[in-house]
Amino acid sequence: MEALVLDVPKRTATVKTLPIPSPSPTQLLVRTHFVALNPVDALYVSHPLAPKSQTRIVGSDFAGTVQQLGSSIPASARESLKIGTHVAGFLQGACSVNERPGAFAKFIVVDWDLVWRVPGWMGLESAAGVSLCALTAAQGLFARLGVEAPFEWDSRNTDNERGVSEVKDNTHGKNGDPLKVFIYGASTSLGQYAAQLVRIAAHASGREAVLFGAASPARHAMLKVPPYSYNGLVDYREANWVEKLLEVQNGEGVQYAFDCISEGDSVRNVIKTVAPGGKMAVFRSREGKAWAAEPGELPFEPVYGAVWEGLGVEVQYQGFTVPASASAREFAVNFYGFLSSMTEEDGPLVLRPNLVRLMPGGLERIVPDGFALLGPGSMDNRDTSRSEAYMRPISAEKLVYQVLKQ
Ligand SMILES: NC(=O)c1ccc[n+]([C@@H]2O[C@H](COP(=O)([O-])OP(=O)(O)OC[C@H]3O[C@@H](n4cnc5c(N)ncnc54)[C@H](OP(=O)(O)O)[C@@H]3O)[C@@H](O)[C@H]2O)c1
Repeated sequence: MEALVLDVPKRTATVKTLPIPSPSPTQLLVRTHFVALNPVDALYVSHPLAPKSQTRIVGSDFAGTVQQLGSSIPASARESLKIGTHVAGFLQGACSVNERPGAFAKFIVVDWDLVWRVPGWMGLESAAGVSLCALTAAQGLFARLGVEAPFEWDSRNTDNERGVSEVKDNTHGKNGDPLKVFIYGASTSLGQYAAQLVRIAAHASGREAVLFGAASPARHAMLKVPPYSYNGLVDYREANWVEKLLEVQNGEGVQYAFDCISEGDSVRNVIKTVAPGGKMAVFRSREGKAWAAEPGELPFEPVYGAVWEGLGVEVQYQGFTVPASASAREFAVNFYGFLSSMTEEDGPLVLRPNLVRLMPGGLERIVPDGFALLGPGSMDNRDTSRSEAYMRPISAEKLVYQVLKQ
């Protein structure tokens, strides 16, 4: 099969022919139809973590059809995941020091309980861009910040010191108080899922949610209407956006802040929007050195976590190890169970996929086009120089490539 394989010395990735993988007894073989790009895919191709001796398939998000089921998959799951079923999920790509599988290939193998069934009303093209970012948003909101989730998971299990160990804290937003959340980078893929999950969680628990965001003005109209329905928005490019936001909120801070950028000055500015006793989630680590804020400078330490912990295996990452966590895996399995059960009739409880920019070409165009658009590691380093319409800057869209040609 064709796969996009990391080339460590050249800091790139090229399409190579590899054997089709075989599923273990608890895995599925999936024929990949579409893959979606995440900034982390491009980051660890230009800054490889993997040893150069290994053949590592890059890429995380995929959607496709079940081709083969491992022999030990439980009978109940065999029925719902029969051959041909539309599924989506994510793998780790080359985003680790230790060897882990990647998704940018014509076939992949994946644990049967770490995929979700794509509902009939959502095409595979859209579904490809959901798994990694939506799980990241769910981990941030429910597992790390402690907002009550609209699905079951065991929050008492505290075996992971890096985030999912956070003890559930539902004190905010109780007693009739609205759930007040600020999302910096509201038009990012991550921010779009975070806002929807705030709305879904509030709806499921019968609470009011008040949502503030920062995005470019061109995205405000889209963010003011469902499924996001922001109550107030500011332009993050204005130097005094923090003051403007506090003004919109009548001087009060929020209970929960989500910094979907976590780069440069964002952490030190976003934390100013949090009311005393509130919490903040960040999505790039202090160890990754993307933040300008120095240790000890901030009034409290924001909570960071890597989506990889949902895979439930040890991941040697950038400057630290994400330990194997049974509770983080259980959280991911239950969140994907929640996605599998969504029907269009659920209305306000449905998570909508990001808008898709279907990129021309297949696996071979991911590095020259898609990774150029994502850049080698920070929002400021994204290539905005190309003139083709599909090379416009990414704003509230997911880049998707078709792997299986019709
Ligand atoms: N911890 C984890 O496990 C994890 C998982 C997923 C993602 N992430 C990280 O989260 C970040 C977001 O990922 P993504 O895929 O959601 O990104 P994305 O959709 O590619 O981000 C593009 C958006 O970023 C916004 N943006 C760019 N610079 C900004 C700034 N200085 N302030 C505010 N907004 C800005 C743009 O907004 P406008 O168009 O409105 O200008 C654009 O809509 C990345 O750094 C990614 O690596 C971490």
